[in-house]
Parts: sequence; structure tokens; C-alpha cells
Amino acid sequence: MHPVNITGPRLQLRELHSRDVDALHAIQGDADVTRHMKLEPRTREEVEHAISCSITSAGAEPRNIYMLAVVCSEERQLIGYADLDLDPFAEKAATIGFMLRPDIWGRGLGTEVVHLLCALGFHHLGLHRIWATRSPLNAASGKTLLKAGMTEDGRIRDHVFVDGAWRDSITYSVLNHEWQAPEGICVSTCS
Ligand SMILES: CC(C)(COP(=O)(O)OP(=O)(O)OC[C@H]1O[C@@H](n2cnc3c(N)ncnc32)[C@H](O)[C@@H]1OP(=O)(O)O)[C@@H](O)C(=O)NCCC(=O)NCCS
Repeated sequence: MHPVNITGPRLQLRELHSRDVDALHAIQGDADVTRHMKLEPRTREEVEHAISCSITSAGAEPRNIYMLAVVCSEERQLIGYADLDLDPFAEKAATIGFMLRPDIWGRGLGTEVVHLLCALGFHHLGLHRIWATRSPLNAASGKTLLKAGMTEDGRIRDHVFVDGAWRDSITYSVLNHEWQAPEGICVSTCS
């Protein structure tokens, strides 16, 4: 699917553009955002490179990677990042990731981002299963995934190597028939 344009009550998921570098760097370069993630805060150049990779992957056929901007519908301002990667080892499955600018945390927007990713995966791409992982210390991520209707599946021991040590991940998933689109989420093709 290209270009992605999925809207919810307050947010929109759209393709990343080269002009998004500064707004995305304000998020991916912030240590509060990346604290529980695999990545270190990114430099502006690294963000520029990531956007260029997202533009390349958006044009791939078939498209397996969706690296997207989360935009505030009213002001059209980029306030987050979300991704959905088709799982190369499982049929009709994908993993998701997401991050928002810290000054807008706690307003229900993280939950809306997960719903928008589910709309992309289930309604637009016809997936069966969407799953996500979080660090055991990332309570905000866990609550957000549960609030969006995911189920905690379990723990992958020593899943990632960060800061010189192995770290477990807690896993969550939702199946196509389980996900309920909240009111206001666009589930038709709206690009
Ligand atoms: C995870 C993240 C996107 C959540 O965004 P958000 O907009 O604050 O989420 P919501 O407002 O929709 O909150 C969803 C639930 O999580 C809870 N929550 C949010 N932050 C929390 C925190 N720090 N500790 C505990 N619970 C928290 C909220 O209270 C809410 O639950 P409730 O309605 O039962 O009270 C945001 O914290 C973020 O960008 N974090 C950094 C990146 C990251 O960790 N991404 C996830 C990687 S797996």
C-alpha cells in the first residue's frame, strides 16, 4: 500500500518526507523517548538517513516495511513515529513500534496510534496477527498496548542485547477478529 493515509479522531498516519527531519529528530533524538528502546538517541544525520530508508522501502514492491509519520490532524504537525514490519517468519503477521513526543504523552494518543497501525494491518493489508514487544521496564508501552486491545502473550528471554547486556522482552498480540476499531478510525481505503 502506498501512500499510506489513515486517519483517526485526532491523528493521521502518513508517509515520511524529507522535510520531516527536524520534527522527527526532536523525538528520536530525545533520550526520554528512547530510554526503554533498542536504539540510542539519534543524531540529525541518522534521522535523515532513516527517512531516506523509509522513502526507499515505501517504494519497494512488495512493500514489507511501513515507517510512518504520526501527525496531529488539526495542525498537521508531526508528533510521532510509527512502524509496521511484515513478519518474514510468519504468515500474514507484522510487528509494530511507535513513539510520541514527550510533551503530548498521557492524552490517549499512544492508544490511537496503535489503533491506526491495526487499521493499516488488518483493514488495508489483510493481516491476521499484529504483535509488539516492549522492555520489561516500559510500563507506558505495556499499558498502551493493552488499552488498544492487545493481549500479553509472554516473555522472550534474552531477546535483545542493549548497553552491554541481554534483556528480556514482553510480547503482546492482537488477532484480526479480536481488534475493534474505535469510532472515528478510518477503516476504508482513504488514500
Ligand atoms: C508508549 C507511548 C507511545 C504512550 O503514549 P501515550 O500517548 O502517553 O499513551 P496513552 O495516553 O494512550 O496511554 C495509554 C495508557 O498507558 C498509561 N501510561 C502512559 N504513560 C504511562 C507511564 N509512564 N507509566 C504507566 N502508565 C502509563 C496511561 O495512563 C494509559 O492507561 P489508562 O488510560 O488506563 O490510564 C509514549 O509513552 C512514548 O512515546 N514512549 C516512548 C517510546 C516507547 O516506549 N514506545 C513504545 C516502544 S515498545
